[in-house]
Amino acid sequence: MNYIGSKLSLLDFIEKSVNEVTSGDYASVCDLFAGTGAVGKHFKKKGKKIVSNDIQTYSYVLNRHYIGNHKPLEFNGLKQEISDLDKSDNKIATVCDYLTNIPGEDGFIFTNYCLGGGQGRQYFSDENGKKCDAIRNTIETWYKAGKINEDEYYCLLCSLLESIDKVANTASVYGAFLKSLKKSAQKPLELIPAELILNEQEHLVFNEDANKIASEQCVDVLYLDPPYNQRQYATNYHLLETIAKNDNPEIHGKTGLREYKQQKSLYCSRSQVKKAFSDLIANAKAKYIFLSYNNEGLLSLEDIKEIMSSRGEYGFFTKDYHRFKADSNRGYSADETIEYLHYVKCH
Ligand SMILES: C[S@@+](CC[C@H](N)C(=O)[O-])C[C@H]1O[C@@H](n2cnc3c(N)ncnc32)[C@H](O)[C@@H]1O
Repeated sequence: MNYIGSKLSLLDFIEKSVNEVTSGDYASVCDLFAGTGAVGKHFKKKGKKIVSNDIQTYSYVLNRHYIGNHKPLEFNGLKQEISDLDKSDNKIATVCDYLTNIPGEDGFIFTNYCLGGGQGRQYFSDENGKKCDAIRNTIETWYKAGKINEDEYYCLLCSLLESIDKVANTASVYGAFLKSLKKSAQKPLELIPAELILNEQEHLVFNEDANKIASEQCVDVLYLDPPYNQRQYATNYHLLETIAKNDNPEIHGKTGLREYKQQKSLYCSRSQVKKAFSDLIANAKAKYIFLSYNNEGLLSLEDIKEIMSSRGEYGFFTKDYHRFKADSNRGYSADETIEYLHYVKCH
């Protein structure tokens, strides 16, 4: 998923830096602000035990599948419903295929976020909104009827979130929709099976405030990737949150925003971020702590150094890369941002 602050392009840099600081001597990694799960997935594939956490429900869904699921999924309870399932050697793909082809429904997403729903919003084509509603409701019905287990439920939900995001009629995030349907949003929604990473380890996935999990979970490597600025993830991804929760919330305004008081991040608040970060570092139960942050974030480099040094030997790595900023007047303009990876070897 194309996600603000995704570390997909920095995975090798992060892993190399972690290996250098720890001399490769670590068995567990906690990805505390997990977002898309890119970092946790990377270390899971390297055989590490992962603890993953994020305050957003859609992120929990992604990580509950990508990190939490680690054994093959059989979908045995759907054999009667989906006749091809028995002979299929790719069960997830067969179930996704079935769901892709069920008839659409006039549900919450169609009614509130598609032009045909009459509210003036166009986050999805009418057909894709209806299909999203039908797929989401079917997954829920199967789960409640005991036809799919919890692992299978999150696998399908994760596939839906990834797939619906591909046909969203937005510039990048859900803070606004485009006036006319862009090309990718005109394509019919296809439920693409989410990657299943098999391994022997049991992993933990949470949907809590980062400071709580940091103070409770003992790990070798604690990786921190908090928001850098005042843009709340809860508003930028409100539609994915609603699809994940399936709670038909009260919504308001031009963009149909849901209430998000409980998910307001202190890391997006200029006046509160320093205290939140200090508390997290002071209470963290880890041998090594790493922090991704860039030179334009709310916390100054001096603050970070001072706070992290309080726990032990501090240092940092940098990686220069180009950032592309959406600029409504001039299209895209390249901007230089320096990405830091701070670390502390805790006493
Ligand atoms: C920069 S993004 C992480 C991106 C992630 N590393 C990736 O590659 O996809 C920051 C994440 O922190 C989460 N977040 C913000 N405040 C939080 C908090 N107090 N506790 C837990 N998660 C939080 C946001 O929901 C968002 O997903």
